[in-house]
Amino acid sequence: MGGASPSYSEQAYWENRYLETKGPFEWYMGYEELAPLLRRHISRESKIMQAGVGTSMMDFEMARDGYTSILGLDFSEGAIAAMMVAHEQLPGVSYRVADCRDLVDWTSGSFDAIIDKGTLDSALCGDNATENARKMLTECFRVLMPGGLFMLITYGNPEFRLCHLLPAHLDWEVRFLAIQKKDPREEHSSLIFGDLIDPADSKAVQRANQQRENHFVYLCWKHKDAHSESKPLTAPLVDDTKAP
Ligand SMILES: C[S@@+](CC[C@H](N)C(=O)[O-])C[C@H]1O[C@@H](n2cnc3c(N)ncnc32)[C@H](O)[C@@H]1O
Repeated sequence: MGGASPSYSEQAYWENRYLETKGPFEWYMGYEELAPLLRRHISRESKIMQAGVGTSMMDFEMARDGYTSILGLDFSEGAIAAMMVAHEQLPGVSYRVADCRDLVDWTSGSFDAIIDKGTLDSALCGDNATENARKMLTECFRVLMPGGLFMLITYGNPEFRLCHLLPAHLDWEVRFLAIQKKDPREEHSSLIFGDLIDPADSKAVQRANQQRENHFVYLCWKHKDAHSESKPLTAPLVDDTKAP
């Protein structure tokens, strides 16, 4: 994903894709590689939502690893139908068709953790990118419990992601880290996780912006005293002209 791309932000694109391509598909990296990070930051008892689950095997692997409550959401009916057939017999795993820009079926503060691997990235490809991202993040923030974690796994470096994650109406603490493969020649090489970086550390952010080959994980902890609703949006929307 990235550069001149198909209409990743459109439901019709994904519906067709899941019609044409059956079976699991994992974007960026799988659970085996991400497990150390998830285990460190998300407890196994957490109520977890996977935003834009697609046909990823993450929830299956997480359930096998002891996670007890995972809800996979996607706006593609095809993806959710496939996932229901493949995984829903697993205890603690369930699926729903829903649009992450409008999580009307969930009350505020419903989840301890939300994992987004590639979904904000797809919202940022195509028309109305900034508005789509704003809606998605505002809704994820709302349904997150105070103290809960929104974990974004993305190809987007800080230059192109912090502007979406840091507007004042999202009352959360953001840190990020870069991840790189240990040895790209090995199919199952593990990842090297960088240190957690504070977006206020401009030198570290600058260095991260130069690491174009890496993936990034953004960890956004909703403040414990945050209202479940986001603050009213007073800040102007971020510049729409930056490519994702
Ligand atoms: C790049 S894929 C990532 C799938 C999966 N998370 C993974 O890592 O393999 C993005 C997924 O997000 C879904 N998606 C995109 N925008 C969405 C939205 N607004 N609401 C719900 N799902 C969305 C797409 O249907 C697609 O399955």
